[in-house]
Parts: sequence; C-alpha cells; structure tokens
Amino acid sequence: MSTPQPGVITCMAAVAWGAGEALVMEEVEVSPPQPLEIRIKVVCTSLCRSDLTAWQSLASPPIFPRIFGHEAAGVVESVGEGVSEFREGDHVLTLFTGECMTCRHCTSGKSNICQVLGLERRGVMHSDQGTRFTVKGRPIYHYCAVSSFSEYTVVHSGCAVKVSLNAPLEKICLLSCGVAAGLGAAWKVADIAGGSIVVIFGLGTVGLAVAQGAKLRGASQIIGVDTNPEKSEKAKIFGVTDFINPNDYDEPIQQVIKRITSGGADYSFECIGDTGMVTAALQSCCDGWGVTITLGVPKVKPEVTAHYGLFLTGRTLRGSLFGGWKPKSDLPLLVDMYLKEEIQIDEFITHNLSFEEINRAFDLMGEGKCLRCVIHMPK
Ligand SMILES: NC(=O)c1ccc[n+]([C@@H]2O[C@H](COP(=O)([O-])OP(=O)(O)OC[C@H]3O[C@@H](n4cnc5c(N)ncnc54)[C@H](O)[C@@H]3O)[C@@H](O)[C@H]2O)c1
Ligand SMILES: [Zn+2]
Ligand SMILES: [Zn+2]
Repeated sequence: MSTPQPGVITCMAAVAWGAGEALVMEEVEVSPPQPLEIRIKVVCTSLCRSDLTAWQSLASPPIFPRIFGHEAAGVVESVGEGVSEFREGDHVLTLFTGECMTCRHCTSGKSNICQVLGLERRGVMHSDQGTRFTVKGRPIYHYCAVSSFSEYTVVHSGCAVKVSLNAPLEKICLLSCGVAAGLGAAWKVADIAGGSIVVIFGLGTVGLAVAQGAKLRGASQIIGVDTNPEKSEKAKIFGVTDFINPNDYDEPIQQVIKRITSGGADYSFECIGDTGMVTAALQSCCDGWGVTITLGVPKVKPEVTAHYGLFLTGRTLRGSLFGGWKPKSDLPLLVDMYLKEEIQIDEFITHNLSFEEINRAFDLMGEGKCLRCVIHMPK
C-alpha cells in the first residue's frame, strides 16, 4: 500500500509586504515538500538581528512580500520524495546555511559554506528557485530558505538537523543561529587560548555567546563594548569582565582598548553589523598576532576599510558564518552540551511571545530592549 501524498496546507504566517512595514498575519498556502524537501510544523522561532536587517533592506535589494524567520525548531510534518533521513514526528532545528555532505566544501573539513545549500539570498528555494508559499495565488518569498514565521514551512532536507526528543525546542531554537554562531566564532574560528585578552563589539546574543565561549576557554579578560548601557549587567552573566560604553569616552574606542590592554587584545570580535566597527575591532587587537573575527551582517555600508599597515604588522581579519560549524554534523553536539548544562541558552531568552505578538519582537529588538524573543507558535 502506498502512503498518501501530502497536500497543500493552509495556515497562518506573518508576511512582510514591504521594507520596514509591520508584518501582517495572513492565511497562506504551503505547498507539499518537493523532492528532497521536508515540511515542518514550526514550534518555536526566535528573532535574530539578521531578520530585522533584511526586513529593513537598507543594505540589500528589497525582496517582498516575504516570510522572515531563520532561528527555529519544529517537528517534521511530511517528507518529499527521496528523503530517507527524516520521518514524520522527528524534532528538528532549521539551518539557514545547509550541508549537502557531498560538495567540495562539505567534504573538505576546512569550510562550513556548502556550495549547494549555502546561504540563499534571493528569497527562493535552492532546488528550483521557486517558492513554497502563496497568498491567494500570489507567491511569497522565503528568507534564507527557512521562513519560520509561519505555522508550517518547507525546507530542503539538507537545511534541517534532527535533534534529541528530550531537548526543549523552546530553548534550543536559539542554537539554530545566534548562540551557535557566537560559540563557534570563539571556539572553532578564533580557537581562543586560555589566558587571552578578548574584546567583543556588540553585546547582543551573538556577542554574548562569544563571551560565553571565551569564558569557557579560560580567557583572562573579556572586554564587552556596547553603546547601550543596559547591556552591562546582563553581560556579566556570560563572562564579560569589563564593560565599556564608547559614549563615555572622548577618544576613539580603539585607543581606549589599546590603552587598557597594553597594546591591544589577542582577539577582537565584531558582533554589531557595522563595517566601521570592523575597522575599530581590527585596530583594537595587537600587532604580531591579533585576530579579528567579523560576524555582523552590515545594516548599511557593506564595504570594510582598513589601513594596509594593520595587516603588514601581523593582524588577521576573518569572517565567519554560523561560527564555522558544519551545521548538520556539529549542531547535535551543541544540543548535547546544553542538555548536560555545559553551555547556557536560557539566559539569552528575555521574552516569550505568542505568534500574534511577533511585531513586538521587532519593536523590542529595534529599541535594544531584548536579547532573544522566543515566539511560540499556536499548538
Ligand atoms: N555571522 C553569523 O553567522 C551571524 C549569525 C547571527 C547574527 N549575525 C549578525 O551578528 C550581529 C549581531 O546579532 P545579534 O542578534 O546579537 O544583534 P543585536 O542587535 O541583539 O546586538 C547588537 C548589539 O550591538 C550594539 N551596538 C550597536 N551599535 C553599536 C556601536 N556602534 N558600538 C557598540 N555597540 C553597538 C547594540 O546595542 C546591541 O547590543 C548582527 O549583525 C547579525 O545580523 C551574524
Ligand atoms: Zn541569525
Ligand atoms: Zn555541500
């Protein structure tokens, strides 16, 4: 007996009709998963700054109407042709950068940037450049081929990872992007050595996850830089030893850092999304061996400028997407670490909101009033 083919699902999704416009709850049609795709019932999804930046579309071409959301956990509802890795009922995290397991990068051991299922920027699915959502017959674009601000979504089976049924989805959804990105930047990309001096620009979830990673590696000084004074208290929980607000100084922030670190930090991290601060981060690490890791997605100007002398004297600038983790291979390890209480996730969750309140999450992040807002989808 053959199993019945999944049909179209009609459900609610938060649709962005234009740049910076409040999301509108719409009834959407979600198509069945195509070959090698899975359809997921989203359980929880959090708002990451990258959603907000893309929604504002100041540095990227506007792609609307669109369903945002890429930090999510859910349950597999149905699978498309050729999918053997997942079955209905599996718990999964979505992956905004996937892993095909076979391309040159996936097999290299040197990269987590899959050549087939890497970051999707055009608002469509990797396999056929089509969309899986419509509103009254009108196609709705995706975001990072995840689009979790919908009760159901379709993703490529290479853009999801199966997780333990014991792991609380309302917490581990944060590992789907921000927390994992910060921990990986500290551990896999910078490979912070014990006793190091670390400076982190931007103390949102990403920056504070870097701090947590640095603390667990035994960094001796973790300097957190943020223009929002409210970040100071929260930062201590994640291991920040010195909080600096650049607005409290008359001199450029890089000079302050160089002064208090006797010549610059061993590692600096840009976790803001401001390319001007990438330059400041580079100037804040020491010559000889200083490494700057940039994680931010620029809100406005995408170009980075730096004096060549910074490199001739031995500094390195590196970028990192998803903390260098190979998402399918590495993410279950982070889930296990959380279950063993080796890493903190709960402390990043400042708000729990219902799906109807999703615009509040955008407001809170825009006003600098939250770390992560977890949005709980209707049961
Ligand atoms: N590379 C990746 O894989 C990856 C993953 C997730 C997020 N991101 C990007 O990382 C960045 C941080 O994400 P988040 O979710 O933590 O964002 P967030 O908005 O919560 O945090 C950013 C922090 O930077 C601070 N800030 C803003 N301007 C500043 C300035 N001039 N000087 C000092 N501090 C300043 C803000 O007050 C805020 O605390 C964003 O650009 C996001 O798009 C990248
Ligand atoms: Zn993100
Ligand atoms: Zn690949």
